[in-house]
Amino acid sequence: MSKDCIKIADDYTGYALSNFCVPRHYEEDLENVLIPWGLIQDRTERLARDIFQDIRDEPLTALCVLKGGYRFYTDLLDKLTTLNRFHASVSVQLHVDFIRLKSYENDDSTGDIRVIGGDNLSNLRGHNVLVVEDIIDTGRTMSRLLAILQKYEPKSVKVASLLVKRRPDSTGYRPDYCGFEVPDKFVVGYALDYNEYFRDLNHICVINDTGKAKYKIQQN
Ligand code: HPA
Ligand code: MG
Repeated sequence: MSKDCIKIADDYTGYALSNFCVPRHYEEDLENVLIPWGLIQDRTERLARDIFQDIRDEPLTALCVLKGGYRFYTDLLDKLTTLNRFHASVSVQLHVDFIRLKSYENDDSTGDIRVIGGDNLSNLRGHNVLVVEDIIDTGRTMSRLLAILQKYEPKSVKVASLLVKRRPDSTGYRPDYCGFEVPDKFVVGYALDYNEYFRDLNHICVINDTGKAKYKIQQN
């Protein structure tokens, strides 16, 4: 069942870094704290409850899209296992699975993706699959991934994404479960990276120009 996200407005300036604990090595590289870690936890708790109520008594294969989805994935599964412990009459047996994707970088026009790692997707046949993502950007990657997954004939496929970005070039794709809809700014932290940096930051923050320049990939 699709439910509304928490919408973060375009002019929302978040919290000052000085109000929260941020690693010293990133202090100069961030504009603000957009979503504090505690709020991510509270929202994830509700998403877990929605998923639990929708799936009710059927097994679920939770498929983590690496690397950006790993923190949301572990927190979401922790909350689902807590629901399993506390509900005497309903239970959702969980299977864990991982996938890693790569875009065909030199062919932007097609936007094709490849699966480059993780479990054998044939395991998904006949299963209820929950794809767990960090962020839906244009929506193209997710649509391609869903097309790939369908080839393995799962019983059902749903998508939980912590973030959905409001982009002018969005395909209009919406996940079944969404944590927050965010402005079209580059966000990092809670496993979301900029060139592999900032995964070791708990809060979701907006990167600033200093951070972008410092961790830019040097072209030869
Ligand atoms: N941050 C990190 N990774 C991303 C983003 C973002 O804002 N958009 C798409 N991938
Ligand atoms: Mg991702």
